[in-house]
Amino acid sequence: MNVVLIGMPGSGKSTVGRQLARRLRLPFFDSDHVLEERLGCSIRDYFEREGEAAFRDMEQQVLADLAQGPACVLATGGGSVLREANRLALRAGGQVIYLRSTPEDLFRRVRHDLQRPLLQVDDPLGKLRSLFAERDPLYRETAHFSVETGRPSVPTLVNMIVMQL
Ligand code: S3P
Repeated sequence: MNVVLIGMPGSGKSTVGRQLARRLRLPFFDSDHVLEERLGCSIRDYFEREGEAAFRDMEQQVLADLAQGPACVLATGGGSVLREANRLALRAGGQVIYLRSTPEDLFRRVRHDLQRPLLQVDDPLGKLRSLFAERDPLYRETAHFSVETGRPSVPTLVNMIVMQL
């Protein structure tokens, strides 16, 4: 069974996921990294060259493979829930946890690293707010449970997740 972390960019999926995997003695995968290995280039470059739809197709393939693969902790790209096929595959593959953060918290965490293609805009906070409004219902619908990531430290978040698994 997989433990799958979903949530907005900057919600801490990779950081929490790595520590959670160590705690559970499971391998850790980050779907963005697996995708970049397959593409042979950065997501940013692929996005620019091929567009978002092509990126989402590749992402769907990677998520399906990882969801069906051996047990692991899986951190997913923030847009993984946009496609119903992904929502179903992730839920079928294990326990799905939504790391929930407000757009303001997210902005505080990503403002020094605005390399993400979707945040290359004049008003990244406004963009995070609109992405959050669109996606929060999808994250909630997909997850078996949610964890608020605003205040707790990473080790505390890991404990909170382990207790609910
Ligand atoms: C995306 C989030 C990114 C990456 C891609 C698209 C999104 O992952 O998959 O840039 O649509 O929110 P992170 O959530 O790890 O930043």
